[in-house]
This record gives sequence, structure tokens and C-alpha cells, in this order.
Amino acid sequence: MSESIARGLEGVNVTATKLCRIDGIKGELIYSGYDIFDLAQNSTFEEVAFLLWNLRLPSAAELASLKATLLSERNLSDLNSRVLTEIVGQIRPMRALEMAVITAGALDKNSSDLTNSQLKQTAARLTAIMPTVLARFHRLRQGLEPVPPRDDLGHSANFLWMLNGREPNALEQRVFDVAMILHAEHEMNASTFSALVTASTLSDMYSAIASAIGTLKGPLHGGANEAVYKLVEAIGSEQNIASHVEALLARGERVMGIGHRVYKTTDPRAIILEKLGHELAETSPDRKYFDLSLKLRDYLARKLEGKPLYPNVDFFSASVYKMLGIPSDLYTPIFAMSRITGWTAHLLEQYADNRLVRPNALYEGASNRPYTPITSR
Ligand code: ACO
Repeated sequence: MSESIARGLEGVNVTATKLCRIDGIKGELIYSGYDIFDLAQNSTFEEVAFLLWNLRLPSAAELASLKATLLSERNLSDLNSRVLTEIVGQIRPMRALEMAVITAGALDKNSSDLTNSQLKQTAARLTAIMPTVLARFHRLRQGLEPVPPRDDLGHSANFLWMLNGREPNALEQRVFDVAMILHAEHEMNASTFSALVTASTLSDMYSAIASAIGTLKGPLHGGANEAVYKLVEAIGSEQNIASHVEALLARGERVMGIGHRVYKTTDPRAIILEKLGHELAETSPDRKYFDLSLKLRDYLARKLEGKPLYPNVDFFSASVYKMLGIPSDLYTPIFAMSRITGWTAHLLEQYADNRLVRPNALYEGASNRPYTPITSR
């Protein structure tokens, strides 16, 4: 038994996967053999979902069938609708998403069926309901009627439609769909790992996804996109960047959206999101945050020169979502709305070749202590 500790499990392979490969030095991200730049340029979120669940791109008929499944699964149960109505205004949307997943699991009589076909059905169901949950939650908290989904819009465009009650233009549709593609999968990140740990006990997919959502929420992981928004908002204008960042680092805090366990160069997803940001900014009335993010990025490149700290996916997703008119507390739930595909794809692999995840901890506590009765303590 090793006496060393892999803090944060850095550099440890916990499993093998056919889903995703990252080269953190070159800045490469590959989904099942396809480069992320290629997918962002040419694919759609639904195609990427199929790719992750089947390890190959779909035929036209297979893609149509997946889209039909997503349409048929996206309506909420009465219970889930009622739960949302009850909790709206009291909790944040990420928690609402977690509750919706748990409620869906509680109502699914087949939840403990861990066969591949049933698990794929569950994966599609969870992917389909997440946009409905978030859009409905957002409408209800504004005192607005939920907007019914539209069959003629793709998965991403339909979410923006249900959220805002306005059909997104072609650029908005494309940008948001690409953002969904970029967030879909990322090898053995913290939330995927927590999903695997849960599944490795042969608990069901709903509970595994609820674990993943709880893990994604933290600001060192998916919660960083909202934290980036708050940082840029707090900085406010270009002349405050240096003083704000200096003070933050002096307090021992981190600059959100910067740094990554695996990438020691700019995250390729940040490169793509920055490019999309420039396209959106041409016509957006809300480009201030994007412009300030660019200035912040340039300042940090000078300030942190020589350190392996570069923008990650969350750095530009915040200002891109801002330009799409999305409120900041939905940024992390939207991350989950995309990553559900990667999480469930890893769960398919895990259930197909399961072994309980049960590491050790090195004991450093006291030893040989005689028990003292409470009256003598
Ligand atoms: N700002 C300032 N310093 C940083 C940052 C940062 N964002 N990130 C790392 N560092 C410094 C640490 O202080 C540490 O310095 P030291 O060696 O002098 O003590 C060094 O870099 C290494 O940091 P670790 O925490 O050991 O690196 P780790 O791999 O554990 O952390 C993490 C990765 C959590 C992403 C980190 O870079 C961070 O906190 N970033 C900000 C939060 C963020 O953007 N998270 C999203 C990541 S992408 C995603 O999950 C979707």
C-alpha cells in the first residue's frame, strides 16, 4: 500500500475512457476522436450528444430519431412543475436543477434498471428536461407565464426561446449552440468523477447526476463562470483592473476563470468563446462586460507572465452569456444543461464495466487512547 497522497488526485488515472482526450500542454480537446475546433465549426449540440452516447457521429436518420426523443422527453411531470412553482423565489436555479433531477428519478419506475438501453433513455430524458426546468424556473421567478417549447427549433435555440419568449436570431442560436458543444464533455473533471463515484456503488443515474450537479456548483469548477461575471462587474471599468486584481491577489484569493488543473496554456474552449464574443459584440448593446474581460485578460497575461495561468472555459462564457441576455445565476446551470451529455456518457462507460471506487486515506490521527467516561471528561 502506497504511503504517499495524490492531493486532489492530480495526475491519477481513475479509469479508461473512449470519450475525451485533453492535451493540456498543446491546448487540445478531442471528443471521441473529433477536435473541438472542428465540432464547434461544423456540428450541433444534438450531434455531439449522439457522439458522446454512441462514440460515433449519427446518420441523418439517427439524428432525426434522437431529436424526436428529446422533443418527446422535454415536458415536465406534474410533480416537477409543482415543485418548481413551490420553490421559486426561495432557492437558486442550480439547486432547482438538482431537485428536478431527483424528482424525475423518484418518479421513474425504471430508475434502477442499469441496462444500456434504459440508461440511454434516461440520459436523453435528463438532457431534454433541463432546459425546460431552467426556463420555467426563470419565467416563474419573474412572475411570467412559462413559454411552451417549440418543435421547429433545435435544442439550444428552443431553450433561449423558452427563457426569453423571443426567438433568438441566427447568430445567437449558433453562438449558444456552440457554447453547448464546448461544455458538453471534459474527461475526468471533478463533477464527472463524483458522478462516477456514485454510480460505482450501482446507485442509479439520477442520483449520480445529482451528485455531479452539486459538484459542478462550486466556484473552483463550473461555478467559476458566474464568479467571473461578478469579478468583472466588481471591477467595473478598465482603470480599476490593476488595483482590483492586486488587492484580490494580496488577500490570497484567486482570479476566477483563470488557471486549470490540466491546461497549462489557454483552454481551446476559451479561444472559441472569445471569437464568438467578438461576433456577438458587433451588434450587442451589452458588450461592456466582454470588452472589460478582454482588457482583464490582457492585464493578467502581463501580470501572471511565466506562471501557467491562462483563461479557462469560464473566462469568456460569462460575457458571451451576458450578451445573449442571460442572467448570471443561470450560467452554471447552463453548464450543467450541456455537461449532462458528458456526465451520462461517462456513466454509460462506468455501468458497462463497473468497479466500486473506494480509495484509502492515510491515517494521521491519535492512537491508543483509552476511553474516558463522560463524567470524567
Ligand atoms: N488565480 C491566482 N492564482 C492561481 C489561480 C488563480 N485563478 N489558479 C491557481 N493559482 C495559483 C495557486 O495559488 C498556486 O500558487 P502557489 O503554487 O504559489 O501556491 C498555483 O497556482 C497552483 O494552484 P493549485 O490550486 O494547486 O492548482 P489546481 O490545479 O489545484 O487548481 C483551479 C486548478 C482550481 C482551476 C485553479 O486554477 C483555480 O482556482 N482557478 C480559478 C477558478 C476557476 O476558474 N475554476 C474553473 C476551472 S475550469 C472548470 O472547472 C470548468
